Amino acid sequence: MQQKKQFWDTLAKHYPHFNTPSMSKDVQEILAWTKEQGIAYAPQSTLLDIGSGTGTFSIPLALLHVKVTAIDPSANMLAVLEEDARNEGVIERIKIHQSDWNTFDVLTPYDIVLASMTPAIHDTFTIDKMIDASSKQGVFVSWGSYRLNPFVDALLQAHRPNELFSQTGSIKAQDVMARLDAKNCSYVSKCFETQWSDTYTFEEAKEYAKEQLERRSIAPDFSIIETLLHQCSSSEQIEIHTKAEKVILVWKH
Ligand SMILES: C[S@@+](CC[C@H](N)C(=O)[O-])C[C@H]1O[C@@H](n2cnc3c(N)ncnc32)[C@H](O)[C@@H]1O
Repeated sequence: MQQKKQFWDTLAKHYPHFNTPSMSKDVQEILAWTKEQGIAYAPQSTLLDIGSGTGTFSIPLALLHVKVTAIDPSANMLAVLEEDARNEGVIERIKIHQSDWNTFDVLTPYDIVLASMTPAIHDTFTIDKMIDASSKQGVFVSWGSYRLNPFVDALLQAHRPNELFSQTGSIKAQDVMARLDAKNCSYVSKCFETQWSDTYTFEEAKEYAKEQLERRSIAPDFSIIETLLHQCSSSEQIEIHTKAEKVILVWKH
């Protein structure tokens, strides 16, 4: 857990804010489609944002006067959320908890539960806990069938040439659908494509590469990393591009 927390703390420096254009575009698309499916986001309704990160959903929802509870174990992610929420004047509408989803106490069910792109939802226990956190409605967002990041592909290939890696993460929307079926909850889903670029200095890109390897329990070889980075760019700035499919799932009890 400590290593994973450190991964997210490190990533927080580069993770998009609620108003980063590529992220905001995805969030607005997700909010618009889920609204069409009947998710209310009404003023004063309560919403739990599991693995809130920098507040990419919490802040836009607080701007709609939703009463948000944001939970995340990463202090650095939450520091960004708090600062941006203050700057937007919505800090009073967001309760922030530095907490792991496994151990977070849901005292009263929320009107809406939302979990987007978070490893917090990783097994039957955490999926069921998410579904049960609202007696009304839920939204789950995860990677879809592909995630293309040529730099990470090359990095994994160079370290473990004989292994096949999936870049879409372990929890699939199908796992959540299976639990919704088991609980007789009706749901709808939709896929869409997204893409973004992150710009790193050479040293930051080395750190990014190290974290990407360590989260897959691979020991980084810095000579391989440096060679790859030199191949990517001849300047001090390294641009890492990702294109992926995301899945949105909406359910009602
Ligand atoms: C990719 S970010 C997603 C942030 C935001 N939900 C979004 O869609 O932009 C994943 C977040 O999940 C958080 N996270 C990781 N493990 C978690 C856990 N066990 N419980 C709650 N949050 C967790 C990380 O700290 C990180 O902030």
